[in-house]
Amino acid sequence: MITGPTEGIGRATAFALAERRARLHLLCRNPRKATALRDALLSRYGDISVELYLADLGDFGEVRGAASAFIDRNEPLDVLINNAGVINTRRILLDNGQEQMFAVNHLGHFLLTTLLLDQLKQAEQGRVVVVASEAYRFCRGIRFDDLQWHKGFSAFPTYGHSKLANILFVRELAERMQGTRVTANALHPGGVRSQLGAQNAWWAGRILVLVKPFLRTAARGAETSVYLATSDEVTMTNGEYFYDCKPKKTKPSARDREQARRLWELSERLVAA
Ligand SMILES: NC(=O)c1ccc[n+]([C@@H]2O[C@H](COP(=O)([O-])OP(=O)(O)OC[C@H]3O[C@@H](n4cnc5c(N)ncnc54)[C@H](OP(=O)(O)O)[C@@H]3O)[C@@H](O)[C@H]2O)c1
Repeated sequence: MITGPTEGIGRATAFALAERRARLHLLCRNPRKATALRDALLSRYGDISVELYLADLGDFGEVRGAASAFIDRNEPLDVLINNAGVINTRRILLDNGQEQMFAVNHLGHFLLTTLLLDQLKQAEQGRVVVVASEAYRFCRGIRFDDLQWHKGFSAFPTYGHSKLANILFVRELAERMQGTRVTANALHPGGVRSQLGAQNAWWAGRILVLVKPFLRTAARGAETSVYLATSDEVTMTNGEYFYDCKPKKTKPSARDREQARRLWELSERLVAA
């Protein structure tokens, strides 16, 4: 299952896995783009299986609906790739009271993953792959006293905070999955030419155009996701952070066990509210 497969890295990941004849479960928020993607995959690869699930990851009711639709199929889940992501230059508060980047990048994926843990455990070797970012470095720790960024909102630190949450989530999930066949790993895809941030104000778009020549293609950006999803080399690897298909050491903020445990417990409460 891949979240956010309609653009950028997620789309390239979907095509790379279709090439390997994977049975794809695609969680998308836009029905028109979802159908167009399925048509494109089927026209290129013919008889592969592509199932669509519609949910905005910032809407926890919709995430529950998508997870239920998969659970109703009564089949194991081999790989969950938490890829969808958003970066905003202005603070957006959702109806559920959460700041959008934290809600979509972390909380929605936290909920999806925890709802699908039984299906992952039923797989021969279930894998959770989380597309994080080196942007986690913009932030020193989890802001337990202000997750909604009432104070100090700024695009990169707030985005980086959600990506730090991605890595800490993987650390805690890996701990909790010890003794099962499920593993969890995070990754940085590199700087990738994609639609990330394209919905923002014109000046943010200008910056994107300026940096474009220095960015890698989405197919190249998808390589570590595909590696973690499929390679025999990482069957036993759990709780690591990868870049260019190799483990990469993180700053202490992304290895803090106590913060990871606290974030898990708080996330449970926030998605239940
Ligand atoms: N691009 C980079 O340089 C870079 C670097 C480091 C990390 N990353 C990470 O890589 C991941 C993929 O980013 P990308 O660069 O491929 O971005 P992208 O081209 O903007 O693609 C993002 C995908 O996420 C989906 N999405 C966004 N908000 C969503 C929501 N609320 N609910 C459900 N789906 C949603 C989008 O759906 P729509 O098609 O409907 O918009 C799209 O399919 C993200 O987690 C990002 O943080 C990217």
